[in-house]
This record gives sequence, structure tokens and C-alpha cells, in this order.
Amino acid sequence: MLDFYREFILDHYRHPRNKGKLPNADISHEEHNPVCGDRIHMDIKLEDDHIADIKWDGEGCTISQASASILSEMVKGKSIEEVRQLSKEDLLEQLGMETLTPARIKCALLSLKVLKAGLYGLTTWPGEEDEWN
Ligand code: FES
Ligand code: FES
Repeated sequence: MLDFYREFILDHYRHPRNKGKLPNADISHEEHNPVCGDRIHMDIKLEDDHIADIKWDGEGCTISQASASILSEMVKGKSIEEVRQLSKEDLLEQLGMETLTPARIKCALLSLKVLKAGLYGLTTWPGEEDEWN
């Protein structure tokens, strides 16, 4: 893994942003990676048409947890429509996509699955169906 991405991911893993629970969340959703059992939970507070606040919690590998932290920063304050446009490639690019193996890509996309399933009710794994984009 390139040094920049390695440091970036480790920093988010060690100092996770927006980790915790949101009392009075409008949306609470959790998914796990069936391969390893790692799980991520997200609480989302909506205001009008945008994500006013988001918190996540979970346990799992470095990439899944760092990805949740990074994703939470990417979408906080964004409109629901903007988040709908957010693709798995957008997130993978933030994480240094070309350095991840297929198994690690599932780790990286777990957080996006939770977010999209919570917001739009999509429950297929990225890559299995196109509805993620
Ligand atoms: Fe190392 Fe998932 S086990 S990133
Ligand atoms: Fe479980 Fe990465 S090894 S999500």
C-alpha cells in the first residue's frame, strides 16, 4: 500500500471520526460482512433534505473501520441526493483503491453498504448488482 494511503487509513483507524451513537437518530442501520463477521452500525440524523449528523460504531479490521470514519466525513452535511450519487468508486478512490485486493475492497465498502441500505433500503453487496451506483 502506498505510504500516503497507509498513513491516512491508519490515522482514521486509530483516531476514528464521528464514532459513537446518535440519540434520536432518524435512521439506524447495521450490516455485517458475512465473510468475517465484522459489523458496522450507523445512526443518521436528517434535517430537511440533508444529513445533519452521522455517527457510526462497529468492530472489525483496519480498513472497514477507517472506511466508516472516512465515509462519515465525506457525507456529513451532504444532501440525500448527493449521497445517492456517491459511488463505490468515489469511496475507494479516497482509500487508495488501486492498492486494495478484492477481499479488502469488501472491507472498504461495508460502511457504504450500511449507509446506502439505511438511506435507500439497498441490501446487495457492491459489485453483485448495479444498484449501488
Ligand atoms: Fe487488515 Fe481487513 S484484515 S484490513
Ligand atoms: Fe472483516 Fe475487513 S476483515 S470487514
